[in-house]
Amino acid sequence: MRHFGVALVALIFPSLVSANDLDEAAKRGRDALLTRAFNPPVWSMFGYDSVWKYWQPALKEAPKEYDESLREHYGFHAAPYENGRLPMGLRESRGFFGKGITTDCMLCHAGSIMGKSYVGLGNASLDVHAFFEDFNRTLGTSGRLPFTFSNARGTSEAAGMAVYLLEHREPDLKLRFKKHDFGLRDDLCEDVPAWWLLKKKKTMYYTGTSHARSVRSIMQFMLVPGNGLAQFEKEEATFADIQAYLLSLEAPKYLFPIDKNLAETGQKIFNNTCARCHGTYGEKWTYPNKIIPIDEIGTDRNRFDGLSRSLGEFYNKSWFGQEKEYGPVSEPKGYQAPPLDGIWATAPYFHNGSVPTLAGVLNSKSRPKIFTRSFKTDEEAYDKVNIGWKVQILDNAPDQTLPAYERRKTYDTTQPGRSNQGHTFGDDLTDEQRRAVIEYLKTL
Ligand code: HEC
Ligand code: HEC
Repeated sequence: MRHFGVALVALIFPSLVSANDLDEAAKRGRDALLTRAFNPPVWSMFGYDSVWKYWQPALKEAPKEYDESLREHYGFHAAPYENGRLPMGLRESRGFFGKGITTDCMLCHAGSIMGKSYVGLGNASLDVHAFFEDFNRTLGTSGRLPFTFSNARGTSEAAGMAVYLLEHREPDLKLRFKKHDFGLRDDLCEDVPAWWLLKKKKTMYYTGTSHARSVRSIMQFMLVPGNGLAQFEKEEATFADIQAYLLSLEAPKYLFPIDKNLAETGQKIFNNTCARCHGTYGEKWTYPNKIIPIDEIGTDRNRFDGLSRSLGEFYNKSWFGQEKEYGPVSEPKGYQAPPLDGIWATAPYFHNGSVPTLAGVLNSKSRPKIFTRSFKTDEEAYDKVNIGWKVQILDNAPDQTLPAYERRKTYDTTQPGRSNQGHTFGDDLTDEQRRAVIEYLKTL
């Protein structure tokens, strides 16, 4: 009877059912993630409304359609949940001195494609460096950040941020006067992995060095000065719920027609050439959870080399590493071959976002060297032939006299951390075979 009821609801309200099917922990996690702030307020609504004054080229007055212009300027996306005028990633927060604005996980972990916003899709449009700099300037500061948050729009130095935050803590999370030196770098360039992949993974992060069910690990972005051990301990159960929600997310389905016969041919090639690392798909999926040695995968090695041993040792001694069973991180051995569910929606590709389309992933010789794109996510911006983002190929690196905001719009694969080499597993296929594999990848 109950199942019949669910089926009936499914017919009428397809989107409601997934919500009904969420177990209690996942529901609590979704509510916490989408309604609560875990960091104290930093900026004001007045700052939000006046931040356009720092845009370049300078504007004479606030742009019309202000919220939309602001989203486009920084690469934010409209919130599909109640969030006032704020985009996904920003949120109203209450602190000691009253209300204000802070950031949340969706800053990086929510994106949009074909005009639709998704929690869990990595944000591939964001200029996170410009966002923090400009918003900090609304506080009357120089805006200069203590570390590089991004060198190329759509990517970030998120691991660098975690290093920076940990450098200022004792193992029991007390703030330190004199910071540790964990060898913070500014060239680890990271794309954001889709949250819906987590459920298949036993290990997580690009190097697979953390247990994929670690709760404390995903609380690292709470390490802002206003949060101490008490807040971390208080919110650990909430983050266990948030994790349950992340584990319930599903990849969105490809939105355009698929050539079924071609996809079937592609599936055979995929199963012969790719499945040993990326697994198989469909109802009885398999996922081998492999970490591929760095020399074998050959993609940019900065993220692999970039987190020091002293950082790992500190982490394992700290509150984070002391989480029962799941806490400690291991030494990196290579990059984890990710599951490819929803791969059509998660361009650009590789851990550093160096390849804008699947066609490029499958043919290393066709990868563009220096390129830019619109950073929009509508149908116009999407490349339905090569699958990924349409790019404009450039002859030269950006002119150093341009404002940094403009320079970050160019992805230059000759720069440290941004190499587009390696993963040559599709190179020996014929063009026709590659077409077929791409057609199959659309179905995942
Ligand atoms: C500044 C951008 C940013 C913010 C904010 C952020 N993340 Fe992430 N997140 C990333 C990046 C980049 C990675 C990949 C890191 C790596 O592997 O080095 C990642 C990885 C993860 C992963 C592992 C995914 C996988 O499959 O390996 C989880 C889970 C996660 N983040 C959860 C969260 C949660 C929960 C929050 C909020 C408390 C959060 N993140 C805030 C950028 C961010
Ligand atoms: C030996 C193992 C291995 C084989 C074989 C392999 N891959 Fe990969 N693949 C990886 C690893 C590891 C990565 C992550 C590399 C990185 O991010 O630097 C990856 C990344 C990818 C990505 C990008 C994922 C993302 O989210 O950015 C795609 C797409 C992909 N592979 C498709 C394929 C296809 C299609 C084949 C078969 C033609 C294939 N791979 C064969 C190991 C493999």
